[in-house]
Amino acid sequence: MAPGSGAGAVSEPVTGQPVVISTWDTGLAANKGAWEVLSRSGSALDAVEAGVKVTESSINCCVGLGANPDRDGFVTLDASIMDHQFNCGSVAALERIKHPISVARRVMEKTPHVLLVGAGAQQFAVAEGFPLEDGKLSGDAKKAYEQWLKKSEYKPVINIENTKSSAYMAAPARLPNGEWNHDTIGMVAMDASGNLSGSVTTSGMGFKMRGRVGDSPIIGAGMFVDNEVGAVAATGQGEDVIRMCGSHAVVEYMRQGMTPEQACKAAVERIIRIKKEKAKDIQVAFIALNKKGETGAYAIQKGFSYAIKNNTEERMVEVKSIL
Ligand code: GLY
Repeated sequence: MAPGSGAGAVSEPVTGQPVVISTWDTGLAANKGAWEVLSRSGSALDAVEAGVKVTESSINCCVGLGANPDRDGFVTLDASIMDHQFNCGSVAALERIKHPISVARRVMEKTPHVLLVGAGAQQFAVAEGFPLEDGKLSGDAKKAYEQWLKKSEYKPVINIENTKSSAYMAAPARLPNGEWNHDTIGMVAMDASGNLSGSVTTSGMGFKMRGRVGDSPIIGAGMFVDNEVGAVAATGQGEDVIRMCGSHAVVEYMRQGMTPEQACKAAVERIIRIKKEKAKDIQVAFIALNKKGETGAYAIQKGFSYAIKNNTEERMVEVKSIL
């Protein structure tokens, strides 16, 4: 029996139909970056790297070096990337490097390892020719940090990534002009050959404990790709995604025959079962793409959306939630 052809397996891939999806409204610009690769019959791997680099480059974004720092005032970045052959690489707590996603890819391609952290990740990046940036906080991040220091209170804010949410407006002033305030972008794509890849890049939670690492660089938690089945990325409170290997779980639900939306829903329901009454205080959402090119997502709380781009459409999709 061919791999993936057992009971519940997803049917044969539709090739020649590239598609890319990514989390939150920053995904629209990121998808355009990915589409430049996909529309020229480039690989899904190149597309998911190029796509999230758009977000990492944005000076007004909480992904990348413009992001809010940890509680000691350092911006520390996490990222991961995975291709259609289980090759994967990630970096965690990386400082002063503009494109963590490209360092993650270099870890995948040039080392025998999957994950490099902290000073070692930075040393590797510099050895690979990535410029070491000055490490100064951006103007907005500095203001937000000074504001935060007044109380030094750490409390995750639901949908902090969503500029339009009231939760965002109640958060420490990050971008007073109301521009978006995402701290994570996750992206999954299928190329014209039907191959899947995924990427995630984040500054993690603003004002986190020094050394805190979230789900994004943990393969199987923040992102996972199984080219026989599908690709998944997560956003929201990373600790609760790590606890149940979230993205891997969604892939396995799809392997059992669920649609992408059903699979994401099953995973967020599982987090709610684990968290019990504390689930009302957190947001976690998954986006998923299967081998047929079908997409879906689900969130714990209202307010999450994802961006989709393919040959026929380019738009935001409002996502259903449990609570
Ligand atoms: N989901 C991103 C983080 O928790 O760091």
